[in-house]
Amino acid sequence: MEVIEKVPLIKRVIITDCSLALTPKDVDEQVCNEIDALTEENNTFWSSPDHDRSEYLHSFFQYPAMMVPVVQRKLIEIIVRNKPTISSVLDPYMGSGTSLVACMENGLDCYGQDINPLAILVSKTRTGPYYIKAIKERKPFFFQQFEKDSSNKIEANFKGLKKWFKDSVAIELSRIVRAVREEKRPAIRRFYWVVLAEVVRLTSNDRTSTFKLHIRKAEDINSRDLSPIQSFKEHFESCIEDLNWYSDLLTNADKLSKGAYIGQVSLKLLDSKESIFTPNGQDNFFDLLVTSPPYGDNKTTVTYGQHSYLPLQWIDLGDIHELATADFLKTTSEIDSRGLGGRLKQIEASQLAILFRNSPSFENTYKTLQIKSPDKLKKVVSFINDLYISIINIHSSLKVNSYQIWTVGNRNVGGIEIPNDKIIKELVENQGAILIKKISREILNKRMAKRNKDSELMSFEDILIFRKVG
Ligand SMILES: C[S@@+](CC[C@H](N)C(=O)[O-])C[C@H]1O[C@@H](n2cnc3c(N)ncnc32)[C@H](O)[C@@H]1O
Repeated sequence: MEVIEKVPLIKRVIITDCSLALTPKDVDEQVCNEIDALTEENNTFWSSPDHDRSEYLHSFFQYPAMMVPVVQRKLIEIIVRNKPTISSVLDPYMGSGTSLVACMENGLDCYGQDINPLAILVSKTRTGPYYIKAIKERKPFFFQQFEKDSSNKIEANFKGLKKWFKDSVAIELSRIVRAVREEKRPAIRRFYWVVLAEVVRLTSNDRTSTFKLHIRKAEDINSRDLSPIQSFKEHFESCIEDLNWYSDLLTNADKLSKGAYIGQVSLKLLDSKESIFTPNGQDNFFDLLVTSPPYGDNKTTVTYGQHSYLPLQWIDLGDIHELATADFLKTTSEIDSRGLGGRLKQIEASQLAILFRNSPSFENTYKTLQIKSPDKLKKVVSFINDLYISIINIHSSLKVNSYQIWTVGNRNVGGIEIPNDKIIKELVENQGAILIKKISREILNKRMAKRNKDSELMSFEDILIFRKVG
């Protein structure tokens, strides 16, 4: 009797992993060759100012020190092509989630964490779900709600409200807040909150030229004729356009189902020096790391927290994350002090010895600072120590042979260059990873205070690609 094999109805997807036949070193070599070929073809690719910054939902909110999505996407594409078994990615200092949106086209499961609630909000909105049709359908009703609202009740309540917002601005922002609260679906509310966050940034009395809170001159405040409602409507339209662009991209790559990403997305309000979230708390979980850590303590480099302080005052924190509480807004510097190096600590001599042993570049920097700028020592040591602790956590969360893409920048403290590139390289290698490639790129577009009293950010950054070997 002829046996007819029953073919299961489930569609089988066969992944042919060419990398299985290759050694990890072969894969490293292929990755490096592809990067070199690209650099040779276009030697400004990594720094190019031509990359469209509105892509990948980049203009939702001007988060400080955002990575360039096209650059990250290219590297991810090269690595995933050469190692197709990669299925998950971690960004432990996620910011606005650029690394994750750059990974979604490849269908990776995305895990990110940050200590800033606004970073979680922006990243959640960028990673979806994208209810574009519902948002568009609801738009006339939603707009009508705040346009018809004639109440002058103010929905924010914090010390400094009058300083940072003109009455007319606060009244209009409050009308939008009330309309957002009427929306039942959290993902849609989050989209509205992000649009509002950018409008707060543009309509408060804070200067938009720096990330630090810095009040405008009185005559400037008086002469500005602002309508948050008008600016909300305009920004709403451009965000919808960006959403359309990105959801089309994911749809064409078969990565969306009913407006939601087909992979996992898990975003946590969590301090990376405390722990790295993995499902079931497993070690050796992630296949890939894509990240850009802070350059130094937030207070004297990039004040992510201060930049987020005013927008967060208008947003219902419960819509962001269950751990986002008013505690994060106790003072304008609370979020920044929760970041790496945010709290100055006395580091034990034994711990310092470990840092010196693991990073000779840090030891040199320490000794130079000790002579030339001793008052800055504690700040730099606190940051590097926190960074080191987070690197230990990160390393144990990664699989052996996983790749790590670190975008790092140096800074000056008291006129002395802190070589984060070398320090991070040494600390990561010390955990059991090898550097396979370094790409230097000029920072052309980042709106950072290039000079300030005691910290100067450099205009170059490096992309360091490692592979975990042990
Ligand atoms: C350079 S930014 C990341 C920018 C991001 N790549 C983007 O494109 O938007 C660094 C981030 O690290 C976060 N951060 C600082 N200390 C942290 C910590 N201890 N744990 C987690 N995130 C932290 C900051 O809040 C900031 O969002």
